[in-house]
Amino acid sequence: MKKFLIAPSILSADYARLGEDTSKALDAGGDLVHVDIMDNHYVPNLTMGPMTVRDLRNYGITVPIDVHLMAQPVDSLIPDFIKAGANCITFHPETSQHIDRTLQLIQQSGCKSGLALNPSTSLEILRYVMDKIDIILLMSVNPGFSRQLFIPGTLKKLHQVRNLIDRSGYDICLAVDGGIHINNICEIANTGTDMLVVGSTIFDSIDYKKVISAMRIELEKSHYI
Ligand code: DX5
Ligand code: ZN
Repeated sequence: MKKFLIAPSILSADYARLGEDTSKALDAGGDLVHVDIMDNHYVPNLTMGPMTVRDLRNYGITVPIDVHLMAQPVDSLIPDFIKAGANCITFHPETSQHIDRTLQLIQQSGCKSGLALNPSTSLEILRYVMDKIDIILLMSVNPGFSRQLFIPGTLKKLHQVRNLIDRSGYDICLAVDGGIHINNICEIANTGTDMLVVGSTIFDSIDYKKVISAMRIELEKSHYI
């Protein structure tokens, strides 16, 4: 039975109780933590920095922390997030002058590396760097905000990337980010996605466990298992 990973995105969490709220989402069934870093330059929103990752670790969060960098320039930020305790760093190709070098910078530090592709970004960008990627994150919303609608065209793109990964022979995790809910998660899983980043569906709910359990039930219906 395939294990789909559900990554609560803490962009929608309660920042007055971030450690507690993050822990609650993990106790409710989240597998790892997705941390959205926004600089109000690459995306029109501003969030947090390496100290948030550091303090989540100090609070006692021990699961993998997946940092999604929506910031530019990106290279200078990477060492600080790795030092703070990130296990995976995903960046948008538009934020790096030299994508191959940035991927190497992440991997050489013992961290998993990922590329985050916006809805309009071509898959061609992956052609020459598949050997340096651990995660391909497809944005199913335009980056910068939670609580947006899932862009339906992402389903076809997910199928295409699944085929690309399978043909490459590399062990790459396919992830999708934005607008994921109980009523669309099975359809998304059927594309061959491994990791689902879920923000407001979890953090806006009254009962995190009920929501994540409902998503797990939907995932068990997926024919991609
Ligand atoms: C958007 C972020 C997403 C977002 C997901 O730029 O990368 O991780 O927080 O939030 P929901 O699940 O509410 O769309
Ligand atoms: Zn994200």
